[in-house]
Amino acid sequence: MSAEASSSRYTAVAIALHWAMAALLLFMIWLGWNMEENEARFQLHKSIGITVLFLALARLAWRFTNPPPPLPEAMPKLEKTASHAVHIAFYALMIGIPLGGWLLVSVSPFQVATVLYGIVSWPHLPFTEGLISEDLYEIVEFFHSKGAWVIIGLLALHVAGAAKHEFGAEDGVLKRMLPGLFGRPNPPTLPARGFMFAFGGSAALFAVIAVASLLSAGPASSGPAPSGTGLVGANWKVDYNASQIRFSGLYEGNGFDGTFGAWVADVAFYPEALETSAVKVVVDAGSASTGKKLYDDSLKGREWFNIAEYPEATVELGGFSEAAGGYSATATLTLKGKPVSVPLNFTLDISGDEARLEGLVKFSRKALDLGQGSDPGGKWISDEVTVTISGRATRTR
Ligand code: HEM
Ligand code: HEM
Repeated sequence: MSAEASSSRYTAVAIALHWAMAALLLFMIWLGWNMEENEARFQLHKSIGITVLFLALARLAWRFTNPPPPLPEAMPKLEKTASHAVHIAFYALMIGIPLGGWLLVSVSPFQVATVLYGIVSWPHLPFTEGLISEDLYEIVEFFHSKGAWVIIGLLALHVAGAAKHEFGAEDGVLKRMLPGLFGRPNPPTLPARGFMFAFGGSAALFAVIAVASLLSAGPASSGPAPSGTGLVGANWKVDYNASQIRFSGLYEGNGFDGTFGAWVADVAFYPEALETSAVKVVVDAGSASTGKKLYDDSLKGREWFNIAEYPEATVELGGFSEAAGGYSATATLTLKGKPVSVPLNFTLDISGDEARLEGLVKFSRKALDLGQGSDPGGKWISDEVTVTISGRATRTR
């Protein structure tokens, strides 16, 4: 065969992908074994794993348009077959293990969101909503973790094969896969083909999934407020720019807090007729924002606010009475269709027709059925969540 039609080396792209992915895979196995109870490592594992998935697809497509150099003529047929079999198995694992990982997080009863590198919201695998179960998780986990050992076993065969053929009787094969910078007189490679097909195709598939995730993620935190509460007789107009609903708690001993970006409140409050006073607030549950994408995405998920089924939460205040320094009331929060009542204390400064309100209420995550799949005992996230309300309103009549 002429030098134009064939080469005894892999293309520079195949070589770069080979070594980069070999390093990533070994790092991923180490990370998988060393990420327990470490959320940052866990997210990194998912981020690199999804990257490996798309690199593997690109690599496969690259190999399709840039076939590998033929193996040395002198190599026994059985060894050629074994070498091919190991390569096929590697490809199956480079695609199967990360796909399995993706399935794992999709069917996990924990339902933690995946945000790649802290930036790209990554969806669960489609059609897995009805499959969430501990049993399926354990089966998939078995294959995911054992797959790592299969990679290690194959790697031993693969390296032994490369070494045998490098130092054995036939032409060396290692130099086919080594970058040209190792001082060997490397034969030229064929011009590479199919960049757009391999990398464009893989990147486009990635982009389609990421955009679909973005579009189905529900309203953004700055989305429109719910249209109304249905409470009639409101006599105060809330100034939303000067009002806030914040929530705070502890995550691994450190404080976190966030706000609800979109809500609407109707206030019928008569200091002189507390028994006829009533307040109703409708909150867009998907507008919870903590400043960290991973938390925001997780809060929208099934075991937290489950915004797909319950896009809105309501808070109703009633049973007002005067208390030391202000007022007390009963706040009934209806989240995911279930009402929970707790006492609320607030101060109200009224001057003329302007009022300022500061209130605080404490909820138990357990009572509200929040995050009870992944952390029912409050091991990472405190059971107690504090909601503070600060607002300004103008009397209308
Ligand atoms: C190249 C790809 C990957 C490799 C080599 C890999 C390897 C591993 C390994 C060795 C473990 C530890 C298993 C054990 O406990 O023995 C693990 C755990 C895990 N991996 Fe991966 N992984 C990959 C990709 C992914 C991806 C893409 C995801 C999700 C999007 C993922 C999700 C998980 C999860 C959730 C666990 C924890 C399983 C558990 O202990 O319950 N992995 N992975
Ligand atoms: C987990 C790590 C590794 C994986 C998944 C892997 C995978 C592969 C695959 C799939 C091929 C076929 C060529 C292609 O399609 O790109 C290949 C070729 C090759 N690999 Fe690896 N490899 C790994 C580590 C290593 C290591 C550590 C060595 C060092 C000895 C090595 C040496 C070679 C050589 C010399 C070839 C060319 C073999 C030939 O075409 O005859 N690989 N590898």
